Amino acid sequence: MTEAGRGADFLQLSPASAPARGLTSWLVAAIRAAIIDGRLRAGTSLPATRLLAGDLGVSRGAVVEAYQRLADEGLVSARPGTGTRVCGLPPTGPGGAAPERPAPALLPQPWRARADLDLSPGVPDLAAFPRAAWLRAERSVLDRASVTELGYGDPRGSQTLRQELAGWLARTRGLRATADDIIVVNGVAQALALLAQWLNAHGRTRIAVEDPGSVGSHDELTYWGLATVPVPVDEHGLQTSHLARSGVRAVLLTPAHQFPTGVVLAPQRRRELLDWAVTADAVIIEDDYDAEYRYDRAPVPALQAAAPGQVAYAGTTSKTLAPGLRLGWLVPPVRLHADLVEAKHASDLGSPALAQLVLARLIATGELEQHIRLVRKRQRTRRDALLGVLREQLPEARVQGVPAGLHLLITFPARAGQVDDAELAERIHQAGVVVHPLSWHRQLPGPPGLVLGYAAHTPDQLREAARRIAAVLRDLATGVGRRAARGREPRIGAPMPPGHGPELADARRSGQHGQQHAADGREEQGHAQRQVAVRAEVGDAHLPAVLQDEDQQEQQDDGEEGDGQPQAADPGGLDLVLRQRRRQRGARRLRRLGLRVGNRRLGDGWRFCAHWDTPSRIRQRHAPHYCPSARRLCVAASWPPGRPR
Ligand SMILES: Cc1ncc(COP(=O)(O)O)c(C=O)c1O
Repeated sequence: MTEAGRGADFLQLSPASAPARGLTSWLVAAIRAAIIDGRLRAGTSLPATRLLAGDLGVSRGAVVEAYQRLADEGLVSARPGTGTRVCGLPPTGPGGAAPERPAPALLPQPWRARADLDLSPGVPDLAAFPRAAWLRAERSVLDRASVTELGYGDPRGSQTLRQELAGWLARTRGLRATADDIIVVNGVAQALALLAQWLNAHGRTRIAVEDPGSVGSHDELTYWGLATVPVPVDEHGLQTSHLARSGVRAVLLTPAHQFPTGVVLAPQRRRELLDWAVTADAVIIEDDYDAEYRYDRAPVPALQAAAPGQVAYAGTTSKTLAPGLRLGWLVPPVRLHADLVEAKHASDLGSPALAQLVLARLIATGELEQHIRLVRKRQRTRRDALLGVLREQLPEARVQGVPAGLHLLITFPARAGQVDDAELAERIHQAGVVVHPLSWHRQLPGPPGLVLGYAAHTPDQLREAARRIAAVLRDLATGVGRRAARGREPRIGAPMPPGHGPELADARRSGQHGQQHAADGREEQGHAQRQVAVRAEVGDAHLPAVLQDEDQQEQQDDGEEGDGQPQAADPGGLDLVLRQRRRQRGARRLRRLGLRVGNRRLGDGWRFCAHWDTPSRIRQRHAPHYCPSARRLCVAASWPPGRPR
């Protein structure tokens, strides 16, 4: 082999770039650089000296010498039998810890381990994943799959799977679709991405969404350039009469099990929706994310079955098997089909073949159905356990979404205007339980509430979680919470102890579909003095923000007490005072930064909005998570009735 043809896959080392002399030093420098910049992590094995020497066409002695020098520097260690491995880098930086990378704005964060009971909705019981059945099916698929099936295939997905899905969807959801109508996608998320791009390309830049509705779907549509128009949901589902007035020509909804309220779209509303779609020539996106979980109510056929020309139907394995599979299906109206297949092809050339074939096999053998039946039974027991304690310990809470799905919604209508559910969720988080405040999933004002996913925990764990939630609410009601807040617990307007606050911020940013998103956050700056956590909104997307109140003097100017804690007589009053303080201070700070601020009426509350002209400055210093293109920042999304001062 010529020298030009030589080289190692390892760090893409090529002897052609080595100096004529000092080969060992060159090798040491290359490996050292890779350890320092993180390409070689602690524990990674270096190639055997003989192999690397062969790849590079150098003497084995040169490689042995290089490894020895790295070992002398403490960067690698050699042990008989295990070869040479990379050691961890010695700590650097002021606190001894390696510098942290800034968190990306909308990507998941590893925050979930920090609470022992995570009741985030949207997560199925992953411990119930049918590993044995999957393994059997995968063996059988590998035994039989043709080589063609493992190549680049049809961007619509495997023909075998589409055929199985056509039968499955007909049996379980009433769809009349052929294999040719179906596009296999990477979950509902990809279905939404493809549809959003189609809508945008066809000049439909606004889309109606349920309110409350999945914040994950909302964020995704916004990401793809659509403006979401919130349409209220009541006990009959989406209030379809709003659609004609809104002027939109697309809507996304969850008709079989509305997220997060759990209501079913009433027959009259279904008719109105379909009539509107025909009249307005609109596209209805039906998100059928968890229809398989139905306990005490009759099955509801998919909307698509009644109007295949108007409805794009999206389904997923994320709730029945595992979200990590990233496997779902889209059945669009015929007129959209070719464009969507083209978009799917452009985005990834098609979904992974092996998982598709395994899923097809599980459907064909009846094992998927069997698995769903088993899990459904288990989920019913879990739901009953959670429900029992909630009813016993929180009699004032209204529990919704009981007959189906994998989560419950509890609302506190009597506490509307008194309790901020994001703060409540933060306190519950401090008690070791993660829940979603309902306000994360809202754009319009409404009563406070909590969304509780019950799928991933045993009945005992759920009872414990419900007891802790009830205890936090009791504390709040009796004022114990207020006393605690003055001492240890974080509260609006007070410094947050390490480990609190950002977890929820991360939560809100961390993934899809109402699963893991938070509205509060904070920014570390110098020795963080006082911080004002605010709920904020960019364009139509709720995103986290924190304004840091650097100026202690400012409070004293306000005539506030040193500890910033107003002595209010009742919890409602306390809440009100905190909210008003937050707003006033927020306004002053924003004005100082050159923003225009004002109040906007919204339903029976108020929104306090700020517009900026210097997005980068705001973003970097005060709202690091904002979407770069947005120029509107809304702080403290809703206020109690009565015009704020
Ligand atoms: C409303 C809603 N739609 C869809 C999904 C699933 O999306 P995907 O199939 O992309 O995992 C979820 C998951 O939490 C959801 O809550």
